[in-house]
Amino acid sequence: MTGAPISATRAASLAIVAVAAIAAFGRPVGADPSSASPPLKSPADFSSISNTSERSRAIFDEISKVITHPRCMNCHPAGDHPTQGDDLHEHMPPIWRAETGHFEANCSGCHSSRNFTLHEPASYRSIPGHPRWGFAPMSMAWQGKSLGEICRQLKDVQANGGRDLAALHEHIATDDLVGWAWNPGEGRKPAPGSQAAAGELVQAWIDSGAECPR
Ligand code: HEC
Ligand code: HEC
Repeated sequence: MTGAPISATRAASLAIVAVAAIAAFGRPVGADPSSASPPLKSPADFSSISNTSERSRAIFDEISKVITHPRCMNCHPAGDHPTQGDDLHEHMPPIWRAETGHFEANCSGCHSSRNFTLHEPASYRSIPGHPRWGFAPMSMAWQGKSLGEICRQLKDVQANGGRDLAALHEHIATDDLVGWAWNPGEGRKPAPGSQAAAGELVQAWIDSGAECPR
């Protein structure tokens, strides 16, 4: 039998990895680990990339951790429905996009102006809320697209609501509906980093030429 020694070695190395991870990150005092967002790199972390276009693309790659996060993606679907959860399943109850000729439900019938925590048992712990709750139009759909496609679409004033790069930065850095993704209510994982950190990355991406993935 050769299986036993191999798995014993593997178990030992996994234990070392686990100890190293605890030593490196610890656990923030008082923070609920299940609701903590993973960190985002800062623009300074990319300063060693001397080629400006390469640096810009690397920064976009970091920004894409936010863009492709379920909290953003669920409101930027490509189909007729917004989606829910970390697995981007179709919104329950079924909700349609008015743009494609359907009757669009009034979101505010269920989504109030703030996150609403449920106290009765349900498959979800809260109903998300915001005064302008709604989902992005088809021209701003991100689901099912490559990062390159999303990047070029973000810069396309015909698709992005007429935003130049400065307005795009302002939207990501300060819009409070975008900001909901970092304060998504009980039972939902927030987007990585913080809205301010995402804003800094977008500014650094613009300053380095706003290059898109090849
Ligand atoms: C009949 C009630 C109802 C209506 C109307 C409704 N929603 Fe929802 N929605 C919910 C509930 C309940 C949840 C929480 C379910 C969960 O998290 O599993 C939810 C969750 C969501 C989420 C998931 C957020 C996330 O990241 O998990 C999105 C996005 C969403 N709704 C968008 C919309 C939009 C846009 C509209 C209007 C076009 C709308 N909803 C109308 C009940 C409704
Ligand atoms: C509750 C739904 C909702 C969530 C959550 C959401 N968005 Fe949006 N987003 C919208 C709507 C609606 C629009 C269109 C309104 C507008 O143009 O101002 C939009 C437009 C945008 C635009 C404009 C340009 C374009 O081409 O898409 C950007 C950029 C954007 N969102 C980024 C984000 C990011 C980043 C996140 C997550 C951190 C996010 N959004 C989360 C609903 C949402």
